[in-house]
Formats: sequence, structure tokens, C-alpha cells
Amino acid sequence: MERKQFLKSLGAGAAFAITFPCLGSCSKDNGEDGNIVEEPNNVDFTIDLTSAEAANLANNGGFILKNLVVVARNLDGEFVAASQVCSHQSYDEVRFTGQQGGIFYCDVHGSRFAQDGSNLNQVDGKAPKPLKIYQTELSGDSLRVFE
Ligand code: FES
Repeated sequence: MERKQFLKSLGAGAAFAITFPCLGSCSKDNGEDGNIVEEPNNVDFTIDLTSAEAANLANNGGFILKNLVVVARNLDGEFVAASQVCSHQSYDEVRFTGQQGGIFYCDVHGSRFAQDGSNLNQVDGKAPKPLKIYQTELSGDSLRVFE
């Protein structure tokens, strides 16, 4: 059967799906949430802790997302920051939780990371590499996040 005849036999919808398989979903992996992106580099920004964007940092266990960095206030009231891009498969789904003593996690495939970025579990039988961690420096109400 010729290719043209084959596509015609499948119908227009199937032919379109075969011909343009990536439209609208190439950045995602089989419908999982989040996007695959590059890990942030040359990070250096400040956050005004009195601003609205920093409201979630007022309480221990809270976090915000900025410039693909998760900035969190751990259970001791210290500021910690990590890449929002997971070290497992580069989805931008890393978040912080006060549970388990305060950890970074990614629910795309279940990776868990300590606040120093070290891996806490295995995914698909392997331990993903450590999560990238950034430095934080508090000066008055200004929090600097940098490499
Ligand atoms: S991309 Fe985060 S656990 Fe797989």
C-alpha cells in the first residue's frame, strides 16, 4: 500500500496526528504537569521581604517561585533556595514543603531532596543527581539569592 493510500485509509484525524505528532505537547512528557526547561544559571536576584511577592516567606515552611528558583523559609526560619528545575528529568516542578523536617520535592516522578540538595530517594531504581542549591544572604528586609 502506498503511503498516501495508507494515510487516506486512516482518515483525516489519524493522518494529522501521524504527520504532526508534536503540536502543543512536545515540551511535556506524556501529559505530565510542568515543562522541561534548562536549569537556571548565573542566578543573582534580591527579594524585598516586605513586598507582596514575598508574602509566603513570612512563615516557616513557606516558599515562593522566582526566576526558576524555589526560595523557601525552612522550619528554623532560615532562607534556603534551590533550582525549580528537577535534577531527574528537568521538569520545573520542584517545590518546598515543611513536612519531613523541610524538604524540596518534585511530584512528576516523586524525587525528594534535602535542603543541601542531596537526594533522599530513588526514582526508577536510581538516585537522581543532587538538586542545585543557591546561596541566600539576608540584609534587613532584602534577601539576596545567588550562586
Ligand atoms: S522530573 Fe522531577 S522527579 Fe522526575
